Amino acid sequence: IVRSFSNSAAVNSAIKNVTIIGGGLMGSGIAQVTAQAGQNVTLVDVNSDILAKSQKSINNSLGRIAKKIYKDNPQEGEKFAREASERIKTATDPVAAVKDTDLVIEAIVENLDVKHALFQKLDNAAPAHTIFASNTSSLSINDISSVVKRKDRFGGLHFFNPVPVMRLLEVVRGGETTDSTFDTMMQWGKSIGKTCVACKDTPGFIVNRLLVPYMAEALRLLERGDASARDIDIAMKLGAGYPMGPIELLDYVGLDTTKFILDGWNKNYPDQPLFKPIPILNKLVAEGKLGVKTGEGFYKYDKK
Ligand code: 3HC
Repeated sequence: IVRSFSNSAAVNSAIKNVTIIGGGLMGSGIAQVTAQAGQNVTLVDVNSDILAKSQKSINNSLGRIAKKIYKDNPQEGEKFAREASERIKTATDPVAAVKDTDLVIEAIVENLDVKHALFQKLDNAAPAHTIFASNTSSLSINDISSVVKRKDRFGGLHFFNPVPVMRLLEVVRGGETTDSTFDTMMQWGKSIGKTCVACKDTPGFIVNRLLVPYMAEALRLLERGDASARDIDIAMKLGAGYPMGPIELLDYVGLDTTKFILDGWNKNYPDQPLFKPIPILNKLVAEGKLGVKTGEGFYKYDKK
């Protein structure tokens, strides 16, 4: 795991200033790994309370990573965490925040109208060379970019939770993304220490297209009474080498997130049996049992 933590940019990137819109779990993680690589970050969200929470979680995660990289040199570790943290500025006005930026990564709510309103505003405010990217996990990059003029400088940069630990970055080429934009996005991904894979703008790209139906099939197996949740998880961990079982992973990702992805795909691809609704998932979501974040999903958790 240590190899994946980048504390200096091993690969040069044309991108020096990055603006991240959305200070949730994903946006905070993206801000953190970008700052760890020595780039300047502006993290934007609607109010300073949310941003204070983001900064707290970033500092906490930086502390964990610093301890690991600088096991024998806590002073250097503190310096690494402090410097990375200081490279992240926060802001509440997205328009002002993109005035001097090379790359914008959007990690806000998965709602096409909200994303459109944001990107339209940013398109008028950002410099001509600035690349726009979305961290969407299930929407189409072409649908998101349909409202901007810079469709040639638009693509997907899809990260995985927890962003500081997961080594993969999916780099998504939209219908009008130019080779130059795509290459810059790939190079940038490498510069922050991620291993990049090239994806087309298809539902779920690579990882979620395989992972979401896999988790859904685990729930169908559970619903049929073929095995218990615990046994399904143990089976996939010890029999297939996954770090978490599918049902644990559902709780970790958030049941609402997975339901949202499935429902969206089912609407667009009604003939695909893998995307059909799952009663047990819908029931838990209706009860507000969304997984680790609410203290209960398929399993119960200690509330932090
Ligand atoms: N920041 C910094 N370090 C972190 C961290 C964070 N947020 N989260 C975990 N770590 C570190 C821990 O400190 C620990 O370090 P150590 O080895 O020095 O003790 C190390 O990572 C491992 O963590 P834990 O010991 O707590 O637990 P695990 O060994 O079980 O690892 C895990 C946790 C990395 C989450 C692992 O279980 C895992 O890889 N799970 C699968 C995650 C996955 O599949 N993610 C993708 C979800 S899909 C997605 O994101 C797409 C979206 O679009 C839906």
